[in-house]
Amino acid sequence: MRIGILTSGGDCPGINATIRGVCKTAISHYGMEVFGIHSGFRGLLDDEIEPLTESSLTGLLNMGGTILGTSREKPFKKRVTDSEDKPARMLRNINKYGLDCIVCIGGNGTQKTAAKLAAAGVNVVTVPKTIDNDVWGTDISFGFDSAVSIATDAIDRLHSTASSHQRVMVIEVMGHKAGWIALYSGMAGGGDIILLPELPFDIHRIGDTIISRLKKGKPYSIVVVAEGIPTLNGKKAAQYIAEEIEYETGFETRETVLGYIQRGGSPTAFDRNLATRMGGHATELAAAGMFGRMVSLRGDEITSVPLEEVAGKLKVVTEDHDLIIQGKRMGVCFG
Ligand code: F6P
Repeated sequence: MRIGILTSGGDCPGINATIRGVCKTAISHYGMEVFGIHSGFRGLLDDEIEPLTESSLTGLLNMGGTILGTSREKPFKKRVTDSEDKPARMLRNINKYGLDCIVCIGGNGTQKTAAKLAAAGVNVVTVPKTIDNDVWGTDISFGFDSAVSIATDAIDRLHSTASSHQRVMVIEVMGHKAGWIALYSGMAGGGDIILLPELPFDIHRIGDTIISRLKKGKPYSIVVVAEGIPTLNGKKAAQYIAEEIEYETGFETRETVLGYIQRGGSPTAFDRNLATRMGGHATELAAAGMFGRMVSLRGDEITSVPLEEVAGKLKVVTEDHDLIIQGKRMGVCFG
C-alpha cells in the first residue's frame, strides 16, 4: 500500500510526532510506502510530493511545527480567478503517484476539505490537530495540552507582577470561536475572571468582582480572555476588556496578548503520546481499508468517527462543564 500524508491549517505542537506515528507504523509495521505532501492541499495541487523514508523521520517526536509545511488552501472553494478545476488537479496527482490513501492532519477546515475529497472518491483518513480543541467528534485534539501549558505558565508569571504593582492583568489567549484554552489555562493558572466566547459577560459584574477582591485584601486580579469574545469597534479582546475594566473600576490595568507563542515549540509529554497513538491508529485504519474516518480520543480510548459526522461542526464549551461549575463554586467570575 502507498499512502500520502499532509498537514493543513495552523501549525501546533505535536504535528511532527503525528507524522512520525503515521509513517513509522506504515513503514516498519505494515511495510507500506509513504509520500510526504508539502504545504497542505497546496502540495497536492502543485505536485509537491516526495517519498519519506525512515531517515526523514528521525528527531521528530519533540520537534515543533511541521516538517511538511502547511497552508490554509481550500481546494474545493471556487474562486472566479481559478483557471483550472482544482479537485481534478488533485485527483491527477493522487493517481500520478499511485496513492492508495491520503492521511490529512488538521483542524476543522481540514476535516471539511478531507470530507469533500472522500466524497470525490479518494480514500482518506484524518487526524484532529488544533490548539483550539474545537474539532467535533474527539474529546481532545493534540496541541491543546501544549497550548494550555504555555498559557498557564504565562498566567503564573503575570500573577507576581500583578500583585507587586497592585494591577489588573488581562491576558488574551487563542481559541478562535471556542473558549477551551481560556477555560483550561484560566483555571489552571488561578484566574479570577475568565471570559469565554460561549458565555455572555457583564462588565459591571466583572468590576464588582475586582472591587470585592480589593475589599478582601487582594488589590490585584488576573483576567483571562479568549480571543473570540465579542468586542466593540473591532477591538482585540484584551484591549477592549482592559479599557472597560479601567473605566469601570479605576484600577490600573494592563493587557498581554499571548499570540503565536501558544502554537510554537515542542509538545508536552501528553501531546507526544496522544500524537503517537493517533498517528498509529490512522495507519491502522488505512491498512484495514477503513476510509472516510477521523481518528478520535474517547475517554482514554483511541477510536474513530465517520468524517461526514465531523465536517462543518464545532465543539464548544458548554455552561455545564464541570470546570465552570467548580470554578463558580470557588468564586471565579465567568462574566
Ligand atoms: O486555529 C488555531 C489558531 O491558532 C487560532 O487559535 C487562531 O485564531 C488562528 O489559528 C490564527 O490563525 P493564523 O495562523 O491564520 O493567523
